[in-house]
Parts: sequence; structure tokens; C-alpha cells
Amino acid sequence: MTKLIAPSILAADFANLQRDIEMVNQSEADWFHIDIMDGVFVPNISFGMPVLQAINKHAGKVIDVHLMIVDPDRYITTFADLGADILTVHYEACTHLHRTLQAIKAAGMRAGVAVNPHTNISLLEDVINDIDLVCIMSVNPGFGGQSFIPNTYKKIKQLKELILDNNADTQIEIDGGVNSDNAKKLIDAGADVLVAGSFVFKSSNPTDTIKNLKEIANS
Ligand code: DX5
Ligand code: ZN
Repeated sequence: MTKLIAPSILAADFANLQRDIEMVNQSEADWFHIDIMDGVFVPNISFGMPVLQAINKHAGKVIDVHLMIVDPDRYITTFADLGADILTVHYEACTHLHRTLQAIKAAGMRAGVAVNPHTNISLLEDVINDIDLVCIMSVNPGFGGQSFIPNTYKKIKQLKELILDNNADTQIEIDGGVNSDNAKKLIDAGADVLVAGSFVFKSSNPTDTIKNLKEIANS
């Protein structure tokens, strides 16, 4: 299976959002990764519904929404209406995760679960067959541009084993501090989707950077 690249729009130039979205449209990227923060679950606020609506108007690829908010059940149908194809909630933010996953699917989206660096993969065992995508956070969520946490490799291997043991159809996404130095090792450990924010948008040629990451991931 082709390994996928999901540029994180959090690192885009918000004053030139349409330009940056068009760049992703024209590039070899596969998904738009959209980070929604509420200032409660994480100590930062990114952007909300009107901005996602504007992004959706121009985005020509899969929209992968990463909710870093408390009690995400409140907004599941809203994000479906805003054009999310994949809706990822945090394990740590859901009291009734199984119910939340069913609600995401009932709203017509693929259901993702993100896990913080301290959250053990084994906690997903009883819901793995209900999850379309697990997003392993390789930084503490809330900010772009942080350094990659090496313990992530171990977590990817544990998750891959859990998926295989349960015959689950679940993709593994890595989010935070991804760059051309760790991309290959992440894929070799079992990752399917690499999110990259700063590494793409702060580079001198983002289109080439995406192409390069895609090549590394599929080499
Ligand atoms: C962090 C976000 C990430 C972030 C990644 O809370 O979930 O998606 O944008 O940014 P980089 O690639 O710069 O670490
Ligand atoms: Zn994210």
C-alpha cells in the first residue's frame, strides 16, 4: 500500500491560506491535516469552523481533521457538515470512546483516535476493530515545530502488532516533528500516514519537500 503524506495546515501562512491550499492540491500530498484546538484540552487555540469551511472550499484532497478538544461528541455532525472525511478524537478526551467512534461513522466519516505520548497503546485493545485510523502523537499536542519523541517507534510497533493480532483494518498516522530524517524509520516501524507541518511549510520549496517525503516514505 502506498504510504501517505498529510501536510499540517497549522504551519501554513494564514494570510495566504488559499495559496498554500493550492500548493498542497498541486503537490504529491495525499491529505490535508487540519488541527482544531480549544485552549482547554491543549494549551493553545488554532482555528475553528469558519476557517475549516473556507479551507474546504478550495481543498481538493481528503480532509483529515484532528480534534484537540474536550468532549468532541458535541461537534461530530458539525465537522461532517464542514467537509471532514476523517475525524480524529483524542483517547484522553473521550469518556465513552466506543460511542464516539460509532457516532463519527454514523455521520459518514472515518473514525480516528489520537493518543498522547504518555498513553499506552494497549488501552486501544478493546476498540481497535472500531478504529479506522490511530494517530500516534510524536510530540505533546498543541503546537507545531516541536521535537520528535523517539519512544514513538516502540509505540508504532506495538500498535502494528495489535492491528495484526485483531485482523483490524486500521491505518497508523504519525503526528509531530516528522521530517526527512525520521520518515523512513517511521514507515519501517509500521506507519502508513506521515503528518508534517513545519518541515513542509517552513522549507524553501514546500512542493519539493512533500515530493521528497513521499519518495522517502515509499522507498
Ligand atoms: C500538534 C499538531 C500537529 C502539528 C504538527 O498539536 O497536532 O499536527 O501541526 O506540526 P509539526 O510537523 O511542525 O510538528
Ligand atoms: Zn495534528
